[in-house]
Amino acid sequence: MTYSNIIVETHDKVGLITLNRPDALNALSAQLIAEVDDALTKFQADKNIGCIVITGSKKAFAAGADIKEMQNKTYPESYLENFISAWETVAECRKPIIAAVAGFALGGGNELAMMCDFIIAGDNAKFGQPEIRLGVMPGAGGTQRLTRAIGKAKAMEMCLTGRMMDAEEAERSGLVSRIVPADNLLEDALKTAATIASMSLPIAMMTKESVNRSFETTLTEGIKFERRVFHAMFATADQKEGMSAFVEKRTPEFKNK
Ligand code: HXC
Repeated sequence: MTYSNIIVETHDKVGLITLNRPDALNALSAQLIAEVDDALTKFQADKNIGCIVITGSKKAFAAGADIKEMQNKTYPESYLENFISAWETVAECRKPIIAAVAGFALGGGNELAMMCDFIIAGDNAKFGQPEIRLGVMPGAGGTQRLTRAIGKAKAMEMCLTGRMMDAEEAERSGLVSRIVPADNLLEDALKTAATIASMSLPIAMMTKESVNRSFETTLTEGIKFERRVFHAMFATADQKEGMSAFVEKRTPEFKNK
């Protein structure tokens, strides 16, 4: 697939997807999402890639789903094409994904960021679910993931008023893991991704799966799941390597085995 809405690069073991529709503040058209899906599928299949970063521009991570594309959509069309289902590739990606967000992350833009494993925010980031102002509500997980991330009071206020949250409030509320100067955002996200990619990939993927399980189950079942996966890790060569390296005071060399 030829990409016209995203730029795809690899930085050693890190796959980088830059949303690149500057004239529309990276509005998430069907074509853009198809390109993201394609790039993610390739990164998932690439044994050398251990972590993925999705970013936008300094002005906008993404200002939402493409309103011009949506405005004349009908209910049967939305239903038949299962509108939004194409986005699930991001949420279902098994490798770790970081969203590096500067500028606007609105509507589907915030939802795309929340589908990633964590968000690093530039200090100029602005998050919001303004869909209600367009006569709709969030449709790509905003009412669910935002509520789990920041709690009912703030999520409800944001979804009902459409107000934006700045980076400080987003960090205070638990929506983002860290704030960095917007000019250093990509460098920081790539460095963080490289740290993750230096770990054992199967162990990192099992860790991601276990953290995500906490959103889907009870504490007792989640703890049981964690324990089963933890026990299974002792069947990997990377566990032996990691612990031997500690004891021998050297850097581990993980082989993804
Ligand atoms: C299509 C968009 C767009 C969008 C911006 N543009 N957001 N086009 N879809 N979501 C376009 C504008 O039409 C304009 O194009 C150009 O990008 C620059 O935008 P401006 O508005 O001129 O920029 P600015 O004045 O700086 O304002 C920035 C902004 C504003 C505050 C982010 O653009 C804005 O409010 N955008 C919409 C935000 C939004 O409502 N998002 C939710 C979308 S619904 P022209 O051609 O005029 O230069 C959604 C539903 C999700 O996401 C449900 C599931 C996917």
